[in-house]
Amino acid sequence: MSEAPKSNVSDSRREFLKTSSALAAGALVGGLTVPRSVHADSGSEVLRVGLIGCGGRGTGAAAQALDADPHAKLVAMGDAFDDRVKASRQSLSKRFGPKVDVDDAHCFTGFDNYKDVLGCDLDVVILATPPHFRPAHLKAAVEAGVHVFAEKPVAVDAPGVRSVMESAALAKKKGLSIVSGLCWRYDYGVRETISRLLDGAIGDIVSIQENYLAGPLWHRGNEASWSQMEYQLRNWLYFTWLSGDHNVEQHVHSLDKGQWLLGDIAPVAATGLGGRQVRTEEKWGHIFDHHAVIYEYPNNVRMHAYTRQQAGCFNQTEDFVFGTKGVCQVLKHEIAKPNGEVIWKYSGPKPSMYQVEHNELFQAIRANKPINNGHYMALSTMVAILGRMATYSGQRVTWDEAINSTVDLSPASYEWSDLKTPPVAMPGITKEV
Ligand SMILES: NC(=O)c1ccc[n+]([C@@H]2O[C@H](COP(=O)([O-])OP(=O)(O)OC[C@H]3O[C@@H](n4cnc5c(N)ncnc54)[C@H](O)[C@@H]3O)[C@@H](O)[C@H]2O)c1
Repeated sequence: MSEAPKSNVSDSRREFLKTSSALAAGALVGGLTVPRSVHADSGSEVLRVGLIGCGGRGTGAAAQALDADPHAKLVAMGDAFDDRVKASRQSLSKRFGPKVDVDDAHCFTGFDNYKDVLGCDLDVVILATPPHFRPAHLKAAVEAGVHVFAEKPVAVDAPGVRSVMESAALAKKKGLSIVSGLCWRYDYGVRETISRLLDGAIGDIVSIQENYLAGPLWHRGNEASWSQMEYQLRNWLYFTWLSGDHNVEQHVHSLDKGQWLLGDIAPVAATGLGGRQVRTEEKWGHIFDHHAVIYEYPNNVRMHAYTRQQAGCFNQTEDFVFGTKGVCQVLKHEIAKPNGEVIWKYSGPKPSMYQVEHNELFQAIRANKPINNGHYMALSTMVAILGRMATYSGQRVTWDEAINSTVDLSPASYEWSDLKTPPVAMPGITKEV
C-alpha cells in the first residue's frame, strides 16, 4: 500500500493557495459560494491535471484535457498497475511532449494510488478507473478541492450512488466543477435534437425505446502470476462489483438520454428480463449478456430499454422517442411526423463530444463558472442499477427500494488475494434489494 499523500507544491504556490482558501473561507462565512480560483503555478497560468485510471478512456480523456487548454499540464498519474501507467505516459508524452510532466516519482500504483495523485496539488483530476472506485475517488477529489472529470458510470450500487450525490452537493458548495463522461450531453447534434423535443417538437413524450445492441467487448486473458483480484481488475467488465454489469457500464449512455428527455426525474419502478445465453464460459465472469427493462414513469410514460452484447446479431444504438404529435430518432438527429415524414434534421457542426466535454470544463474553470453534472450522472447511474436489480431478481423493483438499498458490492478488503467469482444471478431466486 502507498504512503500518505505527498505534495510537490512550491512555496509561492502554497502562499497563493493559502490566500485563496482564506478568501474562500471568509466568503463562505458570509453565506456566499466562492468558486475555486485557478491555481497560479508560481505565477504562471498552468492548470495541473492528474489522471487516475490510465487505461483506454483515461488516456484519451487526458489527451482531450491537454488539448482543451494551452496551459494544462499532466503532472501525476495513478493506476492499479505499473504497466498501465507507463504505457499511458509513454503514449501521452509522445504526443504532447513537455505538457506531460510526470516523472517516475509522480506515477503511483496500488489501491491507494488516488490518494497520492490527489496529493500532488492538482487543479483538475480525471477519474477513469472501473466504476466501482468512482464514489470513493470522487469524494476524495472533492474533499481535496479539485475540479473533476468523472467517467461514466459513477457507481455500481445504491450506497455508491448516494455517496456520489453527497460529493456532488459538496462540490456545488465549494464551487468545484464536475463534468460527467456521459458524453452525449456534450454532442452538439444530440443537444439540439433533445432541446427541440424538450421544447415540444413532438408534443408530450409518451414512450421511449432505448436500443444498445452491440457485440462483445475485450478480454485481457489470465496469467499464472496474477491473483484473482488482479485477474478481476484487469478484466473488470465481467464482474458486477467492478462494472455494474453492462446494463450499467455501457447501456447507461442510452438510459441517460432517456432520462434527459424525461426531465431527469426518477422512474417509479422497473421490471426486466435478462440472462447469459452465449457468455457461458468462466472467463466472462458472472455478468449477463442481455437485459430488457421496462421503466415506469409518472403519467403512464414508459422507457423500454434493450441492451445486448452478443456476436453475430443485429446491432443498433439508437434512441426512438414517441410523442403525441410526432417521433424522433435522437442519434440520427431526426424529428418526424407520426407517419415518419422527416420535418427536421440537424445540420450544424459536429465536433468530437469527447473534446467538447473538456473544452467546456476548462473554460468553466478559467471563467470561475463551475459546471456540476452531479445530479444527472448520479440519477442515470441509479436508473441503470435499478434495471440490473430488476433483471437479476426477476422482480418489479421500485425506485424507493432501489435507491435506499444497502446492498454494497465492495469486496471485504482491497488486497491482491483470492476473490471468488460470485454466482450468476438467477431471476426468481437472487435478491437484489
Ligand atoms: N464515455 C465513454 O464513451 C467511455 C468509453 C470507454 C470507457 N468509458 C468508461 O471509462 C472507465 C474506464 O474504462 P476503460 O475503457 O478506460 O477501461 P480500461 O480497462 O482500459 O482502463 C481502466 C484502468 O483503470 C485501472 N484501474 C483499475 N482499478 C484501479 C484503481 N483502483 N485505481 C486506479 N486505477 C485502476 C486499470 O488497471 C485500467 O488501466 C469506465 O468507467 C468506462 O465505463 C467511457
